[in-house]
Amino acid sequence: MILMKDIIREGHPTLRKVAEEVTFPMAAKEKKLCNDLLEYLISSQDDEVCERYGLRPGIGLAAPQVNVSKRIFALHIEEEGQKTLSIVAVNPKIVSHSVERTYLASGEGCLSVDRDVDGFVPRYARITVKAFDPEGQEFKMRLKGLSAIAFQHELDHLNGVMFYDHIDSSAPFKVIPDATPFERD
Ligand code: NI
Repeated sequence: MILMKDIIREGHPTLRKVAEEVTFPMAAKEKKLCNDLLEYLISSQDDEVCERYGLRPGIGLAAPQVNVSKRIFALHIEEEGQKTLSIVAVNPKIVSHSVERTYLASGEGCLSVDRDVDGFVPRYARITVKAFDPEGQEFKMRLKGLSAIAFQHELDHLNGVMFYDHIDSSAPFKVIPDATPFERD
């Protein structure tokens, strides 16, 4: 099971690397990693398990964050009135996106960043994505709102990008053109 001690933090060089594409069939070790990434997120959203293991709640976790430079991440997002998104994405890609943008009104956070970083992070409001599941089956889906934001945050991790790279530090709350804020409850 992945614990906070297994998650590398900003400053670690792996977080700045472009991660490698995965080839199929995946090695047993890589498949286990897929399960572990998703399991971390599910556990971290369960108050009891979260407290017992000292986890920080998260909705997304990428392989580079556990020091494995491969193009894999997991998302587990439960939102009221929405279908739960619970996926492992291997070699993920954004195939198209809206012109309209969005940003989390409260700003973004990251399990690899132990501090609050203020500012708006511009993201596409809607994206169509393609990825492979751990069995090598390709899937395509459309995402919006928090799911779209989280997908873009995790995809950035596979390219060595941190969320705060998108924040203009001289004007962190400046108006983002064509953007509608997303309020998280
Ligand atoms: Ni992150």
